[in-house]
Amino acid sequence: MAAPKITVIGTGYLGATHAAAMAELGFQVLGLDVVPEKIEMLGAGRVPMYEPGLEEILRRHVAGLPGSSGRLSFTTSYAEAAEFGDVHFICVNTPQKHGEYAADMSYVDAAVESLAPHLARPALVVGKSTVPVGSAARLAARIAELAPAGQEVELAWNPEFLREGFAVEDTLHPDRIVVGVTSERAEKLLREVYAGPVAEGSPFLVTDLPTAELVKTAANAFLSTKISFINAMAEICEAAGGDVAKLAEAIGHDDRIGRKFLRAGIGFGGGCLPKDIRAFMARAGELGADQALTFLREVDSINMRRRAHMVELTREAVGGAVLGTRIAVLGASFKPDSDDVRDSPALNVAGQLHLQGAQVTVYDPKGMENARAVFPTLGYAPSALEAVRGADAVLHLTEWREFRELDPEVLGEAVAHRRMLDGRNTLDPALWREAGWSYRALGRPTA
Ligand code: UDX
Repeated sequence: MAAPKITVIGTGYLGATHAAAMAELGFQVLGLDVVPEKIEMLGAGRVPMYEPGLEEILRRHVAGLPGSSGRLSFTTSYAEAAEFGDVHFICVNTPQKHGEYAADMSYVDAAVESLAPHLARPALVVGKSTVPVGSAARLAARIAELAPAGQEVELAWNPEFLREGFAVEDTLHPDRIVVGVTSERAEKLLREVYAGPVAEGSPFLVTDLPTAELVKTAANAFLSTKISFINAMAEICEAAGGDVAKLAEAIGHDDRIGRKFLRAGIGFGGGCLPKDIRAFMARAGELGADQALTFLREVDSINMRRRAHMVELTREAVGGAVLGTRIAVLGASFKPDSDDVRDSPALNVAGQLHLQGAQVTVYDPKGMENARAVFPTLGYAPSALEAVRGADAVLHLTEWREFRELDPEVLGEAVAHRRMLDGRNTLDPALWREAGWSYRALGRPTA
């Protein structure tokens, strides 16, 4: 039997990566987006965001590019996608609703409403977006109503766990593949799609629809809890004179706890963890199970407290008030190796200081353009050295490798005061102190 043909609906972070990865695995792929500019860019082999390795694999497959396999094309037409695909992956985003905790399902709903009326032959629609549990069942019912092929069109759920900065690696070699299905036919088709990664060792787990939806939200809730746990320990360490970095290392040696996601600092941000735990709480409330997740409210508030604490430490460092001081901020993206500034703790801290009257200058290796777009009133500099010129304090807020390699002597010559506040706990305190800097990190002793 011929290999299934694949469409990917939504070519943002997740979709662009998934489409390129599916082509890399050998499938014929058609990517769809409703934004023509995105389709134009991808069709020319360019990626609209910074993601290591993605543009390379895209270029290897986009039809019409020199030397490409030709397996990957793009369109804005749902009719064309429906005609083309045997398996349709829904990869649109589910942001937080404005002014509410709940997830905004309008993009997912619109994708299904637009695709389903064209599905005139057997097909499998596979949701990958992070959604409130119960959405899959609701969408399956909707597809049954709308699709001309009726029962021949099925729905499955296949959550995506990719991390920004590692999107290609996580898609081609996932930790696990989870598929929520309602029939053997759907399972068989998805086993075929993922045969490559499974042959290389990725576990393949088959569940029902609600469990598959929940795996994603549960995983993100757990990761957020882990970060907020260590940040709560950082608060205790500060109060008691302990060192949270050492504490994390020591508890992390216990395999049951594990060392990952125990980096204390200014907390988690990005387009996933913060909104996913809020949407999870909102959904639990709708299900009458809100008590089960009240702890996530605490996880969220510990996390938001970190940003306020960083602002407070800056105020202390410059003598009580930031009004009129010059503050250099190293980092704007929500994490290194990404240009994504959505809910970025770094940019949030920079913004708070700016609102309190500090003259803030930001530098980030990749996130400048996005940062400027959301916060045009901040100052921006083309390098770390330029950003720190004349600064009364330097804040290290996104842990890019480039910042670990900075020379405290060279920077020391440029600043007005040698004050380093390390919001990510990744600089070497001894190095900075030896060069005459006052070095302060969250959850660690002051000297
Ligand atoms: C996350 C999940 O990891 C991924 O599985 C899911 O598919 C999407 O959400 P991502 O948003 O790319 O991925 O970022 P992640 O690497 O998880 O980091 C999230 C935030 O937590 C970042 O702001 C990071 O700086 C912060 N973080 C992470 C910490 O503060 N401490 C840590 O120990 C780890």
